[in-house]
Amino acid sequence: MTMKILVVGGGGREHAIAQALSRNKETELYAVMARQNPGIARLCSHYLLERETRVDSVAAFALKESIDYAIIGPEAPLEAGVVDRLEADGIPCMGPSRAAARLETDKAFCREMMEQHGIAGCPRYRIFREAEDAVRFLETHDGDMAVKPAGLTGGKGVRIMGEHLDRKGAIEYIRSLRSDIVLEERLIGEEFTLQAFTDGVHIVPMPLVQDHKRAYEGDEGPNTGGMGSYSMPDHGLPFVTESDRRRALGIMQSAVAAMGEAGTPYRGILYGQFMNTRDGPMVIEFNARFGDPEAMNVLSLLETDLVDVIERAVEGTLSRGMVRFSAQATVCKYLVPEGYPESPVTGQPVSPGAYDPALLYYANVEEKDGVLFTLSSRTMAFVGVAATLAEAEEIAERAASGVQGRVRHRRDIGSASLLKRRVDHMRELR
Ligand code: AMP
Ligand code: GLY
Repeated sequence: MTMKILVVGGGGREHAIAQALSRNKETELYAVMARQNPGIARLCSHYLLERETRVDSVAAFALKESIDYAIIGPEAPLEAGVVDRLEADGIPCMGPSRAAARLETDKAFCREMMEQHGIAGCPRYRIFREAEDAVRFLETHDGDMAVKPAGLTGGKGVRIMGEHLDRKGAIEYIRSLRSDIVLEERLIGEEFTLQAFTDGVHIVPMPLVQDHKRAYEGDEGPNTGGMGSYSMPDHGLPFVTESDRRRALGIMQSAVAAMGEAGTPYRGILYGQFMNTRDGPMVIEFNARFGDPEAMNVLSLLETDLVDVIERAVEGTLSRGMVRFSAQATVCKYLVPEGYPESPVTGQPVSPGAYDPALLYYANVEEKDGVLFTLSSRTMAFVGVAATLAEAEEIAERAASGVQGRVRHRRDIGSASLLKRRVDHMRELR
């Protein structure tokens, strides 16, 4: 029986979702995206170009096309209540309700939930409604802190003392914020991402991935949405022990259980951003969706039919044994416009060279008369998949350096020297 699936979102992550769904030949794909992603458009029977947060338009399109299931890529439509609306209209979703998505969309809620339910891995934190209270706290407490606006900022709102800011800068930054503020202890360690499918009770982990938020090589420069990421053939990371990994998964399992107990069951993809510290993994944040770029790593390895995973998640019958990922390494490199993220050059022609065997996922790019043009955000990504990290890196790097146009990428992602730095840092801490 043909299954009609709607993908909400139009970035690299959603192209990877659509690509994975399209491996099921019985599926018809549909999309709602703000801009026409050429990769998604080619995979779809129909699509609607519309802001993904316009809940009425998304629901009307889904009903008109008799959609069976929807999967939501980005956080903004989750926060806008797209899942609540589609489910009220009888369309089950892979993605949490607005209330459950607060795990991501409200950082204060997330920390309070962790504390109330005694969930491990929560750093010391304080929440402030008034900027001056946060300033006073900072002035009377030693130690570096992370300064976070409580709401969504596209991954660009967090500033870390000792990294981006000194104490004086932190105070200025706090005074510039117009939302509730979370101050938390600065965690020292190595970051990793653990994503999982969940039906609200069962949780199925995906391979670990390491993202690279900083704009420039050697982890310099401002934070971005993520410049690229890699994963290893054994689905672990060399600076994360088996016990760290189990502990991180346990934390995610507890978060899902807590959301159920609170009457806001969490179904969809849960993304845990962890800092692996001297004392084990601590939660930097949860996201209510796949990571972008991390979705491109794990979905390029997924051997199980993603349609089947969605059906089982909706039925509540997910199990670990049913989801398989190929035992290969992946390296994902994003091309971004020159000047990204601060002052990206937009409207520039860009053309991928011969990139085979890399996989190409389109992101924030516009196609006019067969020519691609940059927009202001990440342009496109290449993923290398191979038996070893070195081979996967070489495939992705060759593809990324073959692109013509005013774009750049980080050459160091997935390189042996960068990995060694991570491992050495962890060894130093432990
Ligand atoms: P977020 O938007 O919460 O993912 O934060 C963006 C980045 O800030 C993370 O990827 C970390 O690199 C960093 N970060 C967030 N919270 C902390 C923390 N408590 N300690 C150290 N770094 C942090
Ligand atoms: N790669 C980080 C994120 O998707 O939030």
